[in-house]
Amino acid sequence: MTRRLALPLLATAAISALGLGAVIAAPVSYKLPDETAAFKPGPNLEVVQNNCTGCHSADYIAIQPRGPKYKTDFWKAEVTKMIKVYGAPIDEADVARIVDYLAATY
Ligand code: HEC
Repeated sequence: MTRRLALPLLATAAISALGLGAVIAAPVSYKLPDETAAFKPGPNLEVVQNNCTGCHSADYIAIQPRGPKYKTDFWKAEVTKMIKVYGAPIDEADVARIVDYLAATY
């Protein structure tokens, strides 16, 4: 009696396990949205691309306030904060080049 009941149950379990496996293994393809923001062209652009794209998009730079008050000192403080507070692995030698680019371009 027990044996007769257990067999179909086992088969059902095996089939649903297989079915689940098939669902998990099915390839999923979807299109990623296009990058919404890119850095503006300017001198030292590649240094900025190498150092400032690892953690967040260029949007973070693009949405900062503009104007004469937000130039070298502002960007120097931002880059220093990325290094000191958020642990960005930026070479000391690149800091000035990054700040120059940001102050000139944004
Ligand atoms: C190690 C990761 C990391 C790297 C690399 C990095 N950032 Fe950030 N950045 C962050 C984090 C974390 C925040 C804060 C995110 C939040 O508040 O949502 C941030 C925020 C910002 C902001 C928004 C204003 C602010 O102060 O929060 C600006 C501007 C910015 N980053 C510029 C830069 C620039 C320029 C570089 C390259 C020199 C850079 N980031 C590289 C981690 C990083």
